[in-house]
Order: sequence, then C-alpha cells, then structure tokens
Amino acid sequence: MKVTVIGTGYVGLVTGACLSEMGNHVVCLDVDPEKIRVLKEGGIPIYEPGLLEIVQRNAAGGRLEFTTDIEAAVAHGTIQFIAVGTPPDEDGSADLKYVLAAARNIGRTMTDFKVIVDKSTVPVGTGDKVQAAVQDELNKRGLKLDFAIASNPEFLKEGAAVADFMRPDRVVVGAEDERAILLMKALYAPFVRNHDRMMVMDVRSAEFTKYAANAMLATRISFMNELALVAEKLGADIELVRQGIGSDPRIGFHFLYAGCGYGGSCFPKDVKALVKTAADAGQPLELLQAVESVNDRQKQVLVDKVVARYGENLSGRTLAIWGLAFKPNTDDMRDAPSRVVIAELARRGAKLQAYDPVATHEAKRVLEGTPGLSYADSARAALEGADALVIVTEWKEFRTPDFDGLRDALADKTVFDGRNLYEPKLMKTLGIEYHGIGRT
Ligand code: NAI
Repeated sequence: MKVTVIGTGYVGLVTGACLSEMGNHVVCLDVDPEKIRVLKEGGIPIYEPGLLEIVQRNAAGGRLEFTTDIEAAVAHGTIQFIAVGTPPDEDGSADLKYVLAAARNIGRTMTDFKVIVDKSTVPVGTGDKVQAAVQDELNKRGLKLDFAIASNPEFLKEGAAVADFMRPDRVVVGAEDERAILLMKALYAPFVRNHDRMMVMDVRSAEFTKYAANAMLATRISFMNELALVAEKLGADIELVRQGIGSDPRIGFHFLYAGCGYGGSCFPKDVKALVKTAADAGQPLELLQAVESVNDRQKQVLVDKVVARYGENLSGRTLAIWGLAFKPNTDDMRDAPSRVVIAELARRGAKLQAYDPVATHEAKRVLEGTPGLSYADSARAALEGADALVIVTEWKEFRTPDFDGLRDALADKTVFDGRNLYEPKLMKTLGIEYHGIGRT
C-alpha cells in the first residue's frame, strides 16, 4: 500500500520504517530539513534500538523515502498518517497547531481520495477539527474531493519502539468510514496476525483511550511514589511491598516501581492535557491533578536526600550523576527528572560529573549553561574525584557495577539511588552509605 507519514520524530519514523518493513511503500515528510538530510544520508536523528537497521534496509529497497516536499508527500499515500508533536500549551492543553498545519497541507494539495489518520496524541474532538481544516482548504480550492478521518493512537514505548510497533498489545482504530476501516485493517494485518488485537471504535473513544492509558500508568507511578515516602517514615521497604502487591493479578507487576518521578515526552504532557480537557468539560479530574503534583514533588526527592545529608550549601561538593535520559534505551531528555535534579543541585553550588550511555549529546543541548556541570565518557570516569553518586536513570550497565571500585572512588562512599537498583543490606555490608527511595 502507499502510505505517507507526516512528522518523522520518535513515532513517525518508527511507524514509517515498520510499515515499509511489511512491503508498504512509505514516504516520510518532515518540516525539519536537518532531520531529512540525516535520514537521506542513511542515518537516523534519534536513538532507538533496532531502528537504524530497519530504516537502512527499507530505504535501500526503495520502500522508504524521506522528503521535505509537501506536495509530493501528500500525492503519494492513500493513507496519510499525522505523527507530529502535540506539546503542551501555556494552559496545559495540547497545542494542535502542528496537527492542524499538517491537515491543512493535505487539504491544500490532495488530488484524490485520502484516509487521514491522526497518530499524534490529541484531545477528544480533534478528529472533527482535522476534518474541518481539510474541508476548509478544499473549499478554498473550489474542489469536491472525498476523504475519511481516522484516529490511530500510538502505544509504543520509547526504548522498545520497534518491538512494540511490530508486536503491539493492541491496535486501536477510531473510524466510522467503512473504506477507512478496511484499509486500516489491511495495513495492520501483518502486525496483529489475527484481528482480536485490532479494536475498531468511534473516533472520540479512540482519542480518549490514549489519554486514559497514559493517565492510568502515571497514576500507578505516583501512587507508588507516595507510598514509598510513607514506607520510609514507617520503616517498611517499598520494594518488598511492590512484590507483595504485584503478585495479585488484579494489580500486576508493571509500573509499580517507586523512583524519582516520571518524565518523557508523553506522561507529563498527556496528564496535563487530560486534566485541562476534563476541567473544560465541567468534570474535573481530582485524582489526576494529584498525580501531577505528586510527580512534581517526586522529582525533588533525590535533591531533598542530598540536602538532608550535606546541607543546603553544596559548594565544594562533587557529585557523580549516572543517567540523564528520562528512561533507559533512549536519548530523549524531554521532561526528564535529571533536568530538575541537575538544576537544583547546581543551584546549590555542587560540581556535577554526569554520564549517560546515549543522551549526552541531547543533554548538552538542553542543559547548556548549567554552572558546574561536566560530562564523563564512562560511568567509572564520572566517579573520579566525586564525594557521592546520584543515580537518576536505570540503565542496565548501572545495575551491577564494580561495587568495591565504586566505594573506593567516592570520598564519602555514599550513593543516592533514584531507581532502587541495589539492595540496601548488600550496600551496608560493602561499606556504602545508601539512600534509596522508600527503603530503609
Ligand atoms: P517528535 O517531536 O519527536 O516528532 C515530531 C516531528 O514532527 C518533528 O520531527 C517535527 O519537525 C515534525 N513536524 C512538525 N510539524 C510538521 C508538519 N506540519 N509537517 C511535517 N512534519 C512536521 O514527536 P514524537 O515523540 O514522535 O510524538 C509525536 C506524537 O506522538 C505526539 O502527539 C506524542 O504525544 C505522540 N506519542 C509519542 C510517543 C513517544 O514515545 N514519543 C508515544 C506515543 C505517542
């Protein structure tokens, strides 16, 4: 099938690459000429495991193309995916300017039937706005052309995006037009293998499903983070509590880890947007408002522990930081807890030596100008001359370090662990002063 993907970020590029892998002829459009240049030269502008190989293979096979040419891209696909960003507006609602610009570009240049599929995470009702924007452009051209609107929210996880897209838990399609439903079923058939995992619903329910999913996951995290703070006060171990409750199939083990807060490009903005949508609809989501404020507080929890240990003034202290990306296996720094941790520690005068396996380049961009912050080439090098270690992201390579070497490298033999990677009892035996989350 002929497919166009508008926006070649984390979602658009993965979508385009994985669809081309199944034999579709995909054209990826972006307004950012630098991204398209990198892609045309055989590279990828983001870090995502397994993505480069798929992009290169299908580009070489002529099934995956990249362009900044709107007219050519719109002319290509019967199915047009919109996968552009939907960042938060000042009031927290999702800013639809990129989505509606993409919709208008389609309306302005299309010459035949299109299925216009919204893959970006968008508030309920956006399907109608996309429909109106396309129709308005067609009216301006005095053209009567047929098109259908669909919603196809994306549930992939950064860091495992290719695997998630290739083997999705479910594919949600919101569409009322029969042709759109048939085309989407055909497009996704190789990924769902049977149609049980493809759910067709109305557009509004599909749009809402994405927000409901992210809100539920964020709620689990904030709930555990709040319980962790109580566990510390009561002398209980949140890790044991997690195992004790996760084994109940009604609860399950996923997303029950206490830590230093959730971040990334989705949870913070989607929680904000849903809070705003619900308030605007006259049905405020009190629980979700608390999820957000608990998370804001949780991003400070490592800083609080450092301050409790060393006092407010951190000048003269050197801290190693392990992990900058908002989670492992990505270079994404959007709303990463490390940004709060680093800003707060730097503000108090600490010298910071940070290491991340892949996000250093992105960190240098977003943390530019942070006083006292330098970057190390390895986890080990970050420890040199440091008083203590602060762990912010749970990269695998941090899980079982040379503990003796770690202890001996740190002047104060102290670890602040925002991801509960180590056993407090083992740390004690090794002579390491250990501060986890919700563990005593
Ligand atoms: P991103 O910021 O990585 O990529 C968006 C791309 O769209 C950029 O390359 C930008 O230059 C391009 N763009 C903007 N306006 C355009 C236009 N008019 N025409 C062509 N290209 C345009 O964003 P990301 O992370 O891929 O997210 C996209 C959407 O998917 C958002 O709504 C997000 O909430 C949602 N989403 C993101 C997930 C993630 O893990 N990143 C997971 C599931 C959904």
